[in-house]
Amino acid sequence: MQKFMIMGGNRLQGTVRVNGSKNATLPIMAASLLQEGRCTIKGVPRLRDVAVMRDVLVYLGASVAWEKDVMHIDAGGVNCQEVSEELMRRMRASNLVLGSLVGRFRRAKISYPGGCQIGTRPMNLHLKGLQALGATITEKYGYITAQAEKLRGSEIYFDVPSVGATENLMMAAVMAEGTTVIRNAAKEPEIIDLQNFLNRMGAKIRGAGTDTIKITGVDSLHGAEHAVIPDRIEAGTHMVAAAITCGDVLITNVIPEHLEPVINKLREAGINVEVKDDRVRVWAGKRPLAVDIKTMPYPGFPTDMQPQFMALMTVAEGTSVITETIFENRFKHVMELRRMGADIRLEGQTAVVKGVPALSGAYVEATDLRAGAALVLAALAAENGTVLERVEHIDRGYERLENKYNALGARIIRVHK
Ligand code: UD1
Repeated sequence: MQKFMIMGGNRLQGTVRVNGSKNATLPIMAASLLQEGRCTIKGVPRLRDVAVMRDVLVYLGASVAWEKDVMHIDAGGVNCQEVSEELMRRMRASNLVLGSLVGRFRRAKISYPGGCQIGTRPMNLHLKGLQALGATITEKYGYITAQAEKLRGSEIYFDVPSVGATENLMMAAVMAEGTTVIRNAAKEPEIIDLQNFLNRMGAKIRGAGTDTIKITGVDSLHGAEHAVIPDRIEAGTHMVAAAITCGDVLITNVIPEHLEPVINKLREAGINVEVKDDRVRVWAGKRPLAVDIKTMPYPGFPTDMQPQFMALMTVAEGTSVITETIFENRFKHVMELRRMGADIRLEGQTAVVKGVPALSGAYVEATDLRAGAALVLAALAAENGTVLERVEHIDRGYERLENKYNALGARIIRVHK
């Protein structure tokens, strides 16, 4: 267990480079299992979640070499189609191998992912889609088994656009006989990145980034090389860091279109945002104005930015209404922000945040990844010091966040217990 000691009050200034996207890397790693050759993935962020996915691939029989931000995966030796409970518990997104194992071996068994800190997160859409492709699903003793004699292309409609289910189904359908159409698919940029990688491996997929994805089955796939897109949530977090500290930060390696909802909300809040090619400069000279946000599937405001944006709104001028529509339990940071002096009232899935002139440092805990990021941001802006426990949650999705912010003028010390 590690913690951060954060001394607040410094303006962040300078340049920070964004790493490759965690949520693009994880499904791409899973997709490499679909073939027997070698895949090279570039821009891989050095994160705990990525290390867990590496362990999952190795457990299944793949060889993985990971040096700096380049990962080579050789999936020729994969001889196991089961993911243990221990690995599923370490990371929910381990369920992304369900689609690729079924796609290649027509069989997969994974431990049922339980509820998590931010919500119950069911798997019904993943399973419904696999069934439509011809798989039989058995749920027993806490495990899900999907098995098929043959996979056949099918029409799949999602009641809600699930990112994970869209990705799993793309992978499962890629070598099915005939054509699969996924309707009401999730449209996140990470899904386009997965489509690009799969097509490089020889797949025939069109439509990712829209709500209809068409997959024409092919006989086999081969190894490929791919560079993952930049992490839009990391970039968004740095934008808020600049805004909340009244700083001036140039964020590089960004695809600004992926951040349109965040950029628009920051501008509405009176924050200066200048976009140029793959760079975004964010600066502010005074407290933000209160704005309302409602999380929505892409291209709406991302749920993965809701806690960080709430941190910003705690010091805004006025009252902001923040509505979470994706996950039912994603307000764990509210209690912690209140400890720092925030004025937040919860009404079901809505948080009413009355801005205060300043936060004060406190003893707080990161309950999950983005809640942890929100608390770092709040602590950067707070008067005096904050002790933030359970930093391992932050390490799941940010590569040495303290080094990045210290290079911009923050004062964060990582304490190993
Ligand atoms: C992914 C992201 C996560 C992000 C989330 C929403 C990864 C590794 N994780 O998670 O960071 O917060 O998208 O943008 O990419 N749902 C069902 N049935 C299902 C599946 C999902 O009802 O079978 C619901 C969920 O409860 C939730 C909504 O669909 O309300 C969206 O979840 P989903 O897009 O599946 O999230 P993940 O893919 O798990």
